[in-house]
Amino acid sequence: MAYQRCIQCRKEYTIDEIVYFCEKCGDILEIKYEQNELVEALEDSEWQKIPLSVWRYRHFMPISATTKVVSLNEGGTGFHLCEKLAKHLKLRRLYVKNEGENPTGSFKDRGMTVGVTKAVELGVKSVICASTGNTSASLAAYAAKAGLRCAVLIPSGKIAYGKLSQAMIYGAKVIQIKGNFDESLDAVLKISEKHRSIYLLNSINPFRIEGQKSLGYEIVDQLNRQAPDRIVVPVGNAGNISAIWKGFTEFKELDLIDTLPKMTGVQAAGSAPIAQAIKNGSETIVPVLTPETVATAIRIGAPVSWKKAMNAIRESSGTAETVTDEEILNAQKVLARTEGLFVEPASASSIAGLIKLVENGVIDRDERIVCVTTGHGLKDPDTAVKMSEKPVEVNAEISAIEEALGLKKEIAIMTG
Ligand code: F0G
Repeated sequence: MAYQRCIQCRKEYTIDEIVYFCEKCGDILEIKYEQNELVEALEDSEWQKIPLSVWRYRHFMPISATTKVVSLNEGGTGFHLCEKLAKHLKLRRLYVKNEGENPTGSFKDRGMTVGVTKAVELGVKSVICASTGNTSASLAAYAAKAGLRCAVLIPSGKIAYGKLSQAMIYGAKVIQIKGNFDESLDAVLKISEKHRSIYLLNSINPFRIEGQKSLGYEIVDQLNRQAPDRIVVPVGNAGNISAIWKGFTEFKELDLIDTLPKMTGVQAAGSAPIAQAIKNGSETIVPVLTPETVATAIRIGAPVSWKKAMNAIRESSGTAETVTDEEILNAQKVLARTEGLFVEPASASSIAGLIKLVENGVIDRDERIVCVTTGHGLKDPDTAVKMSEKPVEVNAEISAIEEALGLKKEIAIMTG
């Protein structure tokens, strides 16, 4: 049986208790499994014949075998060998795990399929989250599929248009908070504490993390049962880096892999409490009161899962880096133009971090590296349009189009 456990004092809670913070010490929870039961379940199962997806790993999820899952076909995302970008950066082997290929366009769907399935299992009727955009889009979609009432709190004016349109069309109650993400999260924590019938589905909810750990499992399976040397991942509220690390460590405990990757977190320079703490060698973070970055998805000053993330980075001998908005937007363009992958700015921060860490000599060019790109570029079309060359407008005349294409000169040379 799976159970919940405090990451600090290790107090245990049953799998069906609705509890977000440890009642004894106030820290956050994680899901643990009875190892023997898991090994036995895996031996009797044909899970490796199931196509790549979150639910291929159903035995590793804290959901009853008889529960009907709420799914939109999440996971099984592309694992792109990036030969041109690798050559450009003089790297031996580089992959991009492109999470924008999930049903609502971000990695959040991995967590939501499990989190919303758990919500239905618990019999709750209403769900809520605070979000910089992608979590709200994903929760709204899965709540619609499950027939649950859904409310999302977002920082007013600071979420990308694609994400806002998703939350609205899926029918969530969208509440814009006059404040930032950290204030929105603080509000939903209080609301879900006060109104116990509303189930909280931010990444503080450990069932979300269980779904997201499948990202780590899939990378192992896409590398034919091997771990890469390094994972580079954008960090905001810090749930995802913790989840990916959990996936790798669980596979290692089951002897499904021999080695573990170095977890490398990347934050936007204006919202980087975890990267700063890692650089300073400190035990705790200093929250950033007014976080700022063009990568609105990771515009977060007080990440709730900071302790899990710092453990993942330190246990794996990884590191953390900050990147400027300029570096993020440049990386977004480079990835699109060398590999044909259009990702949103927050996602491009993993590529920006990679470039910086290679240049600084922190990442060895011989490593096998996987960069996780977390959300689709169409989530934030405004930023992409703003930073690209403007389209040329001409009359619908061949000569004008030839001139715009630079063909006039060629013709003159050929005929001249
Ligand atoms: N990349 C994207 C595209 C995101 O939307 C987020 C988080 C992250 C990276 C960071 O992941 O929080 O697990 O460290 N977005 C959340 C949201 C906060 O509300 O959509 P994290």
